[in-house]
Amino acid sequence: MADTKPKLLIVEDDEGLQAQLKWAYEDFDVIIAGDRESAIAALRSEMPKVVTLDLGLPPDPDGTSEGFAVLDAIMALKPDTKVIVASGHEARESALGAIERGAYDFYQKPVDIEQLGLIVRRALNLHHIEAENRRLAAKAGEGNTVLGRLVTSAPEMVKVARTIERVANTNVSVMLLGASGTGKELLARGLHDASDRKDANFVAINCAAIPENLLESELFGHEKGAFTGAVKTTEGKIEMADGGTLFLDEVGDIPLPLQVKLLRFLQERTIERIGGRKSIAVDTRIVCATHQDLESMIAHQRFREDLFYRLAEVVVKIPSLAERPGDAALLAKVFLKRFAKEMNPAVTGFAPDALAAIDGWGWPGNVRELENRVKRAVIMADGKLVSAEDLDLDGGEEENPEILNIKSAREQSDRKVIRHALARSEGNISNTAKLLGISRPTLYDLLKQYDLQT
Ligand SMILES: Nc1ncnc2c1ncn2[C@@H]1O[C@H](COP(=O)(O)OP(=O)(O)OP(=O)(O)O)[C@@H](O)[C@H]1O
Ligand SMILES: [Mg+2]
Repeated sequence: MADTKPKLLIVEDDEGLQAQLKWAYEDFDVIIAGDRESAIAALRSEMPKVVTLDLGLPPDPDGTSEGFAVLDAIMALKPDTKVIVASGHEARESALGAIERGAYDFYQKPVDIEQLGLIVRRALNLHHIEAENRRLAAKAGEGNTVLGRLVTSAPEMVKVARTIERVANTNVSVMLLGASGTGKELLARGLHDASDRKDANFVAINCAAIPENLLESELFGHEKGAFTGAVKTTEGKIEMADGGTLFLDEVGDIPLPLQVKLLRFLQERTIERIGGRKSIAVDTRIVCATHQDLESMIAHQRFREDLFYRLAEVVVKIPSLAERPGDAALLAKVFLKRFAKEMNPAVTGFAPDALAAIDGWGWPGNVRELENRVKRAVIMADGKLVSAEDLDLDGGEEENPEILNIKSAREQSDRKVIRHALARSEGNISNTAKLLGISRPTLYDLLKQYDLQT
């Protein structure tokens, strides 16, 4: 059985610590190395997924040169390895330096075995997910089943769906990032439905829609008499999601004091209702979404970094509709069918000018805007076919209001035109080049320059 255990390489020169660590990981096949040379040899022969690395190794036990050399070698030889470095007292800087060089995380010495075990297992988990995603990305676009009600033909979106399916049955927290109307809530539900928590509750809470002073009680619940108006004991959303999934929508809008409380819940997995004294254990999977730039919020101390890392074990970026060529027309047809059936069965399809207008529109409001426009058009349509006018799309394409300079403006329009040409010729390079009036090599150059996929 030993060879089925995941391999963990511990690079540590202190023999006492070596022994202590070796016995702390029963579920790992532990390999020990005491210096640079043997560490690199072990990396080559064993290919461990996770490495813990003491930066102070002989002949430089009080410095970091040897440790960094090992780290650099690992990153050069096997960059998907998750390296966790040990930082001695007041050595935060070297730890951060290690992260910059590609380390996954660091821990403080003296070592807390339990805490380090958590970091190691989390690293291993992430390694699995990444490996699986790479495997799936390699064969993306092969048209497998995509999550439930998700309609798409764009490889970018298929990849997103695959990632969601992949992580569904792990307990990692998932952060969905995307502009408004891109399908964040749909994917959060899809994640829940694809998980083995599907028979318990999916509880969504929109943190931006609830006034600050009520949000705490919404999330954590309250006991009767906890405050004026608390006439009866009420469960919070977190408790309601026990056994299931808690979807924190617009998580960037949680005020700082409540962020602290949420973080405590994520660390301890227990809550106390407002005015309550007993702590209640809650087992829930956390999915969150936001359209805000959390990194900049962190930089401005408006969002806690430690909370961010708890919430964002896996980050899924959802492309805007404009970034998924062909999807607007596809979705429009699906929505038309649905709404015609419900509201105006006389309508059977789109007029040709409508499809061209749909494909040419910028869709700043993404799928939500598309859904609304199609719904309205189906209700308003006089004849059998929905026209561009019914969709209110005859005003031509929207201008992108924020333009940095002429170079970036050109790039933007190049990109757009190329993606549409690709969509209209269904990814065929010769036809796309013809449509654009350029040679195939020129098209290849542009695809490479703009990092576009065919
Ligand atoms: N790929 C898709 N296939 C089918 N329907 C979709 C797709 N993406 C989004 N929708 C539909 O579009 C609407 C908007 O999606 P959703 O509410 O998930 O977006 P959101 O990102 O949460 O938006 P917001 O930021 O505005 O809350 C919903 O009615 C959803 O069912
Ligand atoms: Mg939403």
